[in-house]
Amino acid sequence: MTKDFLVLIVDDNVNNIFALKLLLTKLPGIKILEATSGEDALLQCIEFNVHLILLDVQMPKMNGYETARHLQMMERTRTIPIVFLTAHLRSEAFIQEGYALGAVDYLTKPIDDNLLLNRVRHYQHLHDRETNLWEKTRELQSTTDQLQNTLNRLKQTQAQLIQSEKLAALGRIVAVVAHELNTPIGNCLTVATTLDEKNQVFENIVKSGEPLKRGQMLDYLEQTHQAMNIISRGLGRAGELVENFKKISVDQESDSKKQFDLKTLVDNTMTLLLLSDKESRWKMTISIPSAIILNSYPETLEQILAILFDNAVTHGFEGKTQGHIRIKAKTDDQRVALSFSDDGCGMSEETQQRIFDPFFTTRLGKGNNGLGMSICYNLTEGILGGHISINSQPAQGTTVTLEVPLVAPEFAAV
Ligand SMILES: Nc1ncnc2c1ncn2[C@@H]1O[C@H](COP(=O)(O)OP(=O)(O)OP(=O)(O)O)[C@@H](O)[C@H]1O
Ligand SMILES: [Mg+2]
Repeated sequence: MTKDFLVLIVDDNVNNIFALKLLLTKLPGIKILEATSGEDALLQCIEFNVHLILLDVQMPKMNGYETARHLQMMERTRTIPIVFLTAHLRSEAFIQEGYALGAVDYLTKPIDDNLLLNRVRHYQHLHDRETNLWEKTRELQSTTDQLQNTLNRLKQTQAQLIQSEKLAALGRIVAVVAHELNTPIGNCLTVATTLDEKNQVFENIVKSGEPLKRGQMLDYLEQTHQAMNIISRGLGRAGELVENFKKISVDQESDSKKQFDLKTLVDNTMTLLLLSDKESRWKMTISIPSAIILNSYPETLEQILAILFDNAVTHGFEGKTQGHIRIKAKTDDQRVALSFSDDGCGMSEETQQRIFDPFFTTRLGKGNNGLGMSICYNLTEGILGGHISINSQPAQGTTVTLEVPLVAPEFAAV
């Protein structure tokens, strides 16, 4: 260490102080302070950062022990090591008293030079190591503080990112909802306005008292009929969309928890779904062991299967004349993993990343809203208390796996 080791020599005899001082100059890195009385020693200890005291025991007025007692009473000076210098070691009790007052050593006069130098060097080393340790601790503390700050900043950034991602997702949802609803509502508005104009014309003819021809009457009725048709189809479509949007938020009330056999449920559901395939283009293989009993929500599971089937057919088998769907299940005594695979066109990495986002679809404007997989996600994670995952490669087909507990939670988690 580069800092000086400060030694205070306390002796009422200036000759002794001089001799000790001379001796200690042999040691590098030592700085000496002098005091000729106990009182003076206390003052110096308060004023300077003393590292070691060589304290004469026999002094007039305040002797070494009294001085040590006062040093003990003050926080700042309590831990300074003291080496008592005494003409003789009178008794065991005498020595003990010194140690009780914080002495770390006794040296008897006449002082053995080498012994003293060794002792002082020893305390100097101890002090150096302590200072070193203290500085290391401070460095460590400052590194820890920096790490903590970095961590806090990271957390803040992460929270901001999550927030902006949520806002962006909300923005996308609002844009799609607005766009989807805008088309049927806009159509209805246009037709209603046109109809109103035609009514106006019709009203004017009636008011004018001109005779109303049969052809005019029939024309008017035909146009009204067509307009009403467009309006009711548009409103019907808007209503349907709102119904679909509502499905994104999980509604548990429609299904109640009960016991059912997984294989039976899957067999029955898929048989019904396959009925829509009149040309028998899709092959179905179901490999589910019998007697996997779930205490869960059967209609929810049926709804998920219907969505996965619809996706396999609409997206996986799009443009194909044949396709194979495989449904498998395996279980331990807590959970069941149900996988639904098709050997269709698969999907890109980007589609997989966004597949659970509400309103994400690759068939925009072709009758799809991009709600199926987000509904599956909410139903699986929220009602069944499980987890849904996708494994797909372009041209390799798609596997959707549901991992659900055999006993579903009582209350929806979302
Ligand atoms: N089995 C599959 N094979 C290939 N692509 C799929 C499959 N399932 C889903 N996808 C892709 O994931 C997208 C999102 O599917 P999701 O079911 O959420 O919406 P959608 O089917 O497009 O619309 P909706 O279900 O509302 O009619 C699809 O548009 C499609 O690109
Ligand atoms: Mg779908």
